[in-house]
Amino acid sequence: MTNSLVRTEKQRGVAHVILDRPAKRNALNAEMLTELVSTLRDCQADPSVRAIVISGSERGFAAGADIGTLASANPIELYTSGFSEKWDEVAAISKPLIAAISSYALGGGLELALICDIVVADETALFGMPEATIGIIPGAGGTQRLVRAIGKSMAMEMILAGRRLDAREAKACGLISSIAADGRPIADHALEIAERIAQAAPLAVTMAKAAILESFEAPLSAGIRFERSLSALITASDDRAEGMRAFAAKEPPLFTGQ
Ligand code: COA
Repeated sequence: MTNSLVRTEKQRGVAHVILDRPAKRNALNAEMLTELVSTLRDCQADPSVRAIVISGSERGFAAGADIGTLASANPIELYTSGFSEKWDEVAAISKPLIAAISSYALGGGLELALICDIVVADETALFGMPEATIGIIPGAGGTQRLVRAIGKSMAMEMILAGRRLDAREAKACGLISSIAADGRPIADHALEIAERIAQAAPLAVTMAKAAILESFEAPLSAGIRFERSLSALITASDDRAEGMRAFAAKEPPLFTGQ
């Protein structure tokens, strides 16, 4: 599937969604975000897709929401345009999302990465929330998700003081889970992780993602009750029987997602 600002390549159970506005360092305008959401919905509906990698290019993952759009919009337009709600649609994707970061992940670009389930980067990556330096604040969940990802003090320093993190600092903070080996394209690194997810039982992956995300919403006891329910439910799946059979037979499992 090819749109003008977002490209998709699908293979081996993985969709690779590529933000493709390099001249503007993938600044996210309404058109691009709309294309991203429709691409992700297509991946969500496609049973052959079991994990999704979102990347930019060596020009950057995304250098933020489009400042031109933000500069010209009035409050009512921003409130009624549906732009902000599009981030919720990204967050509603139940398949695993992996953000593959090279170069800039700033502002809305970092907020997009924070919505993703796994974030990986190469050595060139730079993470920041520079909104306050241009007179605005994060508006795509950044104040909430960044503090949950890296803690209060560093989130405050990034958002209030414009502190940027390089890949190693981001790894030390827990913002990313791994850094690609020197010189390895970050998309390859992310696709390898995605392919491992694609080999696991799809229903188990979906339920495990839902249970982990519940930890951000619910108190511990409610989260544990939710996990317990899903853990009981998954025992009814064909894939559980197949996983157990294949383990005993020392064979690779053939999962159907049922
Ligand atoms: N919105 C709109 N356009 C953006 C953008 C953004 N968030 N980030 C970069 N661009 C555009 C630049 O205006 C420039 O366009 P032009 O060639 O038509 O002038 C183009 O992308 C390349 O960026 P440029 O600034 O020339 O590259 P650089 O290497 O000198 O700097 C950045 C790269 C990312 C450091 C710099 O572009 C920047 O600070 N961007 C804004 C980051 C930001 O504040 N994000 C939060 C927005 S809410």
